[in-house]
Amino acid sequence: MERRPIRSRGILDKIVAEEAADWHFNPMLKSDDYWKIGNIRQGLGAHWDRLVDFAFDLDQRVDRTSAFDYPLTNDDTLARLAAMGYDENGTALFRTFSDVFPDVFDPVLAACDLIDPVGCIIHQRPGWTNPWHYDLFEFYTKKFKVKDPKSIGRYVVFLEDWVWGHYMLVGNSVVHQWRAGDVISWPFKMRHLSANAGLTPKLTLQVTGKRPSRE
Ligand SMILES: [Fe+2]
Repeated sequence: MERRPIRSRGILDKIVAEEAADWHFNPMLKSDDYWKIGNIRQGLGAHWDRLVDFAFDLDQRVDRTSAFDYPLTNDDTLARLAAMGYDENGTALFRTFSDVFPDVFDPVLAACDLIDPVGCIIHQRPGWTNPWHYDLFEFYTKKFKVKDPKSIGRYVVFLEDWVWGHYMLVGNSVVHQWRAGDVISWPFKMRHLSANAGLTPKLTLQVTGKRPSRE
């Protein structure tokens, strides 16, 4: 008989021990773990509808991908995910980047206050999830030679009004009932996830860049 994967609480305890300094990890704490940055829909005028149509049709333009297509060297994250039961189908997504379609992205990047912004549109079909993780921005730190990844911010822009089944979790905070154009962000290394258990594609745009100085 095949050995059963390690019991889930065992994996959680390992993560909590490894990252204890970075986050509270008390699932019962009623904390607000993300920030609302604002709403950019009005500011984009007629471009907004073009952007949302583009994201909706993204499954016709690009091949689907998943976390399993990008194994990191000396990193056992994918092996852990597979042991938990995740696979390429359940974690699939369609995505594309601002350097490929600058005319679609540039007005959005300009509407955000991040410095040297890079954009990514994500189209997640019903049934697909991006499991609990945090971002290290390795691609961005290499490209822009950033020494401290804490200076990098990621904004998530929701492209449509919220509908049932579309969710994000940031830290302990469930994100739902957003409006099209709402922008949120969260602290570096805060764990988060996104899930589409609804009946329509979930469309988001991420912007990654250096956070402006608040002084
Ligand atoms: Fe992420």
